[in-house]
Amino acid sequence: MTKYQNILVTGGAGFIGTNFVRYVVAEHPDVKITVLDKLTYAGNAENLADLPTDQVTLVVGDTNDAKLVDELVQKADAIVHFAAESHNDNSLNDPSPFMQTNLMGTFTLIEAARRYDVRFHHVSTDEVYGDLPLESTNRDEKVTPLTRYDPSSPYSATKAGSDLLVRAWVRSFGLKATISNTSNNYGPYQHIEKFIPRQITNIISGIKPKLYGNGRNIRDWIHVYDHVTGIWEILAHGTIGETYLLGANGEHDNLFVLRKILQALGKSPDDFEFVRDRAGHDLRYAIDATKARSTLNWQPKYTDFDEGLRQTITWYHQNQSWWQKDKANVEAKYAKNKQ
Ligand code: NAD
Ligand code: DAU
Repeated sequence: MTKYQNILVTGGAGFIGTNFVRYVVAEHPDVKITVLDKLTYAGNAENLADLPTDQVTLVVGDTNDAKLVDELVQKADAIVHFAAESHNDNSLNDPSPFMQTNLMGTFTLIEAARRYDVRFHHVSTDEVYGDLPLESTNRDEKVTPLTRYDPSSPYSATKAGSDLLVRAWVRSFGLKATISNTSNNYGPYQHIEKFIPRQITNIISGIKPKLYGNGRNIRDWIHVYDHVTGIWEILAHGTIGETYLLGANGEHDNLFVLRKILQALGKSPDDFEFVRDRAGHDLRYAIDATKARSTLNWQPKYTDFDEGLRQTITWYHQNQSWWQKDKANVEAKYAKNKQ
């Protein structure tokens, strides 16, 4: 039997939350899930619509609604907290929802979790550590759970703040919490504002892919399936108070990734345009996941990036009605920023 029987999943109608819920339904049919999701532009109730209603319940609401959060936390034996404003570019245009959701929403949840002594897992990002240099004498340098926090954007600063709140609640109030910091995810159900789905759906829509700056920034890609299996392992077997980094040794620069997508879709490798760079654009992310791999029963399954990317491209091809309705708006917003 699974350790936790009633899990509250915040942000469960977003990209990673959806993949987590779908994984739990497939692998742990004895676990009941309540999803708390505000259904912002990034959340989609359709993602969960085909799941069994006796196992998954969607509550549309805000993590800042203390009364609602209190009611839901009271009934849960564990919380997995995904809900966040998650896009760096949006945080540069308007940081305020990031402050509200990422900081205050987390505060509201951990207050309720400590009130009812409920297990809490906080889903966070490698961006809290800032970036690594591109040109370095030590290309093996990666971030570890001991690396100093040094976030660059309003998004990553609010995620760093939320991590620190969770750590303080563990130490001061004995909150039964763990934290995971993970690198760039890719896979099905990712919003088309993000790099990989934006370029796939640009090509399918006859729009030229857009590369920021010189395309040399490096991201450390992990398939979303490997992220959610890591979160499950931490929830079930992680040590309270610990931080785990989840990564799959998937470092590639953006130009390399874009050319893989162009190739897979039968386009010429130069069939894209360079656009205005992101302000404060982090140069390189790289995760040392040794602690997670050696202390948990977890290994990434998608070690072949080409294969994971091919499957992702197929998903966006086969699910055009899922993203077509948002495409024009997303591109219009980018166009205003010359991106
Ligand atoms: P997403 O933007 O796709 O989904 C976020 C979800 O949260 C949406 O369903 C949205 O409706 C919901 N939400 C937003 N504000 C809310 C609020 N106030 N109350 C309730 N629900 C709210 O994000 P994602 O990419 O799935 O990321 C999920 C989490 O994982 C975030 O905490 C993010 O920081 C973290 N993370 C993401 C990545 C990545 O590569 N995408 C990597 C590491 C960590
Ligand atoms: O590292 C984990 C983080 O990864 C998560 O915490 C964030 O929630 C998630 O959005 C992601 O952040 P990034 O900013 O790295 O992801 P994004 O998909 O926005 O961009 C990836 C890279 O691609 C980045 O270097 C910027 C670049 N880019 C992005 C877009 C949208 C482009 O060159 N062109 C684009 O059109």
